Amino acid sequence: MRVMTLISKKIEAVQGDITTLEIDAIVNAANTSLLGGGGVDGAIHRAAGPELLRECRTLGGCPTGEAKITKAYKLPSRYVVHTAGPVWRGGKKEEDTLLKNCYLNSLSLCQQNKIKTIAFPGISTGVYRFPKERAAQIAVTTVSGFLKNNTFPKKVIFVCFSDQDLLIYQKTRNYSGNHG
Ligand code: APR
Repeated sequence: MRVMTLISKKIEAVQGDITTLEIDAIVNAANTSLLGGGGVDGAIHRAAGPELLRECRTLGGCPTGEAKITKAYKLPSRYVVHTAGPVWRGGKKEEDTLLKNCYLNSLSLCQQNKIKTIAFPGISTGVYRFPKERAAQIAVTTVSGFLKNNTFPKKVIFVCFSDQDLLIYQKTRNYSGNHG
């Protein structure tokens, strides 16, 4: 049983592997080429199979902060939303805004495609070294704000690869003022 934390009525945090989720859409923390990589990007491409890369090649890349949608092929989800997060450069190169845009643009694709449930990994918090607590705060605040003003998605899941990462999301719940 995955450990799940309710951050608000429509937002959950779980510990697990995002490639196993049977939901409408999972988000890929990609790079601007959209041609695959390591981390969650590598895991998603491995699980989806080669057709995912074939479709990604038709997209012409993805600027940092933007998001593009593809089918999910062999993954249990229906769609993959690819977004390129910012590389952490100390916090004075618009990293917060770019990370916020990753969430907003991914959520806008849910609104456009009437996607009910979407799962996010910790965008930019691995290879791109964005501080995890700061990223989680941006994620929870941005998603909460979007859900208040939009009808889709109906549910957002933050998928934490490690227990420590889940703990970070549990702590952000208190700041965002949502208790269950
Ligand atoms: N499920 C859920 N989360 C995962 C998984 C997985 N299977 N694998 C890794 N993660 C987590 C990491 O622990 C981290 O918290 O995803 C978060 C993002 O880490 P990265 O995958 O390294 O992504 P990011 O920091 O955004 O760097 C992107 O890395 O893989 C390359 O092609 C990618 O160049 C791009 C860069």
